[in-house]
Amino acid sequence: MSIRYIESTRQLILETAHTSYQMKIDGMGYLNHQFYGPKLGQNDMSYLYRTYDHGFSGNPYDMRNNRDFSLDSMPQEYTSFGVGDFRVNSIASSCSDGSRCAEFRYEAHEILDGKYSIPGLPSVYEGDTQAQTLIVTLLDTAANIRIKLCYGVFDELDVITRTAEIINAGSETVWLRKASSMCLELPFGKWDMIHFYGRHCMERQPERVPLFHGIHTLASGRGMSSHQHNPFVILCDHEATEENGACYGMMLMYSGNHKTEIELDQFDSVRVVTGINDDRFRWELSPATSFHTPEVILSCANGLTELSHRFHRVIRNNVVRGQYKLSHRPVLINNWEATYFDLNEEKIVKLAEKAADIGVELFVLDDGWFKNRVDDNAGLGDWIPDTDKLPNGLDGLIEKINAMGLRFGLWVEPEMVNEDSDLYRAHPDWAMTAPNRAPMMARNQLVLDLSRQEVHEYIYNTLSDLLTKYNITYIKWDFNRPLADVYSHAAPSPRQGEVTHRYYLSLYKIYDRLTKAFPHVLFEGCAGGGGRFDAGMLQYSPQIWCSDNTDPISRLTIQYGTSFGYPVSAIGAHVSATPNHQTGRLTPLSTRGTVAMMGAFGYELDLTKLSDAELDEMKAQIARFKELEPMIHNGLYYRLSSMEDSGCYFAWQFVAPDRSRSLLSIVVTNPLANAAAIHLRLKGLDPDATYSVNGEFEILGAALMNSGYTFPRLMGDYPSMQLDIIKVK
Ligand code: DGJ
Repeated sequence: MSIRYIESTRQLILETAHTSYQMKIDGMGYLNHQFYGPKLGQNDMSYLYRTYDHGFSGNPYDMRNNRDFSLDSMPQEYTSFGVGDFRVNSIASSCSDGSRCAEFRYEAHEILDGKYSIPGLPSVYEGDTQAQTLIVTLLDTAANIRIKLCYGVFDELDVITRTAEIINAGSETVWLRKASSMCLELPFGKWDMIHFYGRHCMERQPERVPLFHGIHTLASGRGMSSHQHNPFVILCDHEATEENGACYGMMLMYSGNHKTEIELDQFDSVRVVTGINDDRFRWELSPATSFHTPEVILSCANGLTELSHRFHRVIRNNVVRGQYKLSHRPVLINNWEATYFDLNEEKIVKLAEKAADIGVELFVLDDGWFKNRVDDNAGLGDWIPDTDKLPNGLDGLIEKINAMGLRFGLWVEPEMVNEDSDLYRAHPDWAMTAPNRAPMMARNQLVLDLSRQEVHEYIYNTLSDLLTKYNITYIKWDFNRPLADVYSHAAPSPRQGEVTHRYYLSLYKIYDRLTKAFPHVLFEGCAGGGGRFDAGMLQYSPQIWCSDNTDPISRLTIQYGTSFGYPVSAIGAHVSATPNHQTGRLTPLSTRGTVAMMGAFGYELDLTKLSDAELDEMKAQIARFKELEPMIHNGLYYRLSSMEDSGCYFAWQFVAPDRSRSLLSIVVTNPLANAAAIHLRLKGLDPDATYSVNGEFEILGAALMNSGYTFPRLMGDYPSMQLDIIKVK
């Protein structure tokens, strides 16, 4: 049993294979957080907390004679609001009488077999592991707000999920102004925060900083999980390394506006509150209705590697759905960087022929295939093939591509509309624009108001028609601008604060309907590269285009940062041209291949311009990737270089689940003259097994892990090397 209630101490204990999570209902009915960390059994951790009078931290009325008791210093599972806990709060609400306070006390709890699900929102599912659910109900009797705190406990995965359902239990409307998914308290210790910031073409850059007193906010208000701040954060012991030290990961499974607040307070205690971004959020909660918050995936581990492995496993097995989650992903070629908008049937067919010759399995026709789409000024919204570019229509082209033995995939950007489109001319009110205001434009396009049912149906029907009419087995779903001027012309003014979240509920529903209706279609998420790279999207699209930056050297940091929370199988990665189109950098084809093999592998360049030798090298890369894919996508991934090493080299290692094989990849970013050889200790091997190293010599796994491997000198422009480590006995 993963969840237990201890009547004598009023403790609720959640246990996974290696972790314990404890909470306790105190004498006042407050739900205290007690502990999250390595497995502890049934010990009552309340001995950790000493209360004493903290002067300016006040006391609840019924404890006014005990000045030691204050909500302001007590670790809590979900905070009250406006009643004396002055730290970051989990919730903010206002009642019809104008009061803005809520104070929650325990009402009931239940322990259920299986994992809860969240109506309308993506969430971790049980799959072939087992889970239990704890629901603790808290009630504020003055505002009549009931909260159901849900905990999903995945024993084998060492993962706990959380969400909150906020219910109006009264007879008057309540307005939610903030509705976080969870609060997690770390009352003791010295913590670093690792977060993943960035920009377009440079997503998920890892940054590790010690917490300082005050509130750190990591957020997106861009209507997308964003290039700028990924909804994943790690708190780790100041001394923690890849191998050792307490590490906590918190991942919000949501693709819209998010906010994580980390407060190091006056008593050196850390509180993390995460959920939907409350800026511009306001939800009308009428009597007897409820609001469900997005899910948070939590794990804690000894060392960053173990933490990453737990997230990789849960995303791969229990977040991603459908037939592609663990199976072969077709090696693809995408024509975007080969042709941009300047495509036509002749060019596409020539490119596809070359691709088929080298072993590519899927051709993806990117932006520019539909009418009036000669550049990014027009066409979005009208998903009708351009017969000037494709005189035989899409079906004529697909037939030719299929005849070469290639599957066919199509690019779409269904959430957007250009002013210059038939759709916009017919339905200008379907675009999000604020009244009496010229809208912000981005890439000359506007965002469709998915919170409207007719827009939802239009998008679903458009995609469903394309997938029914044509032999399409892959969709690249793009999203190329943030949300601004958020306003629904169909919603009443008091409910405009709901529009962005309703947009995402509608988007998830479209994805849900499509993936169920067309289970054979592989969806790849995309948002100007990796602007919507999150666990919410991964529920429906097993892979996401990681960045519009295809330069392998830039990709090293992007993919390194991404690897902390997300599995390799989720990372869309392509070999592109040299000089690179985003940076102008020249790199060897071998290095481009090595870097793209850390992902869902493909090509994105004009193959018709390459030499036979280059095409032969690519053919060998594809054959190699196909052979190694089960280990690369579904094995264990290790970072062998650190953030400090990245100025000189990046190294990483894949290990098969049964440890029979491994691949070590290294890229030297700054070869140094007369420097010491690069020497690395390998990870994850069987210490007692003998491995062949690149067929050159045989040695024990223990030797490779304890004494390491010394690399030959790698010189020139961005050299790379792959080391094959195969168990021989
Ligand atoms: C942005 C994507 O990230 C690119 O790969 C490409 O599909 C373009 N959009 C097309 O407009």
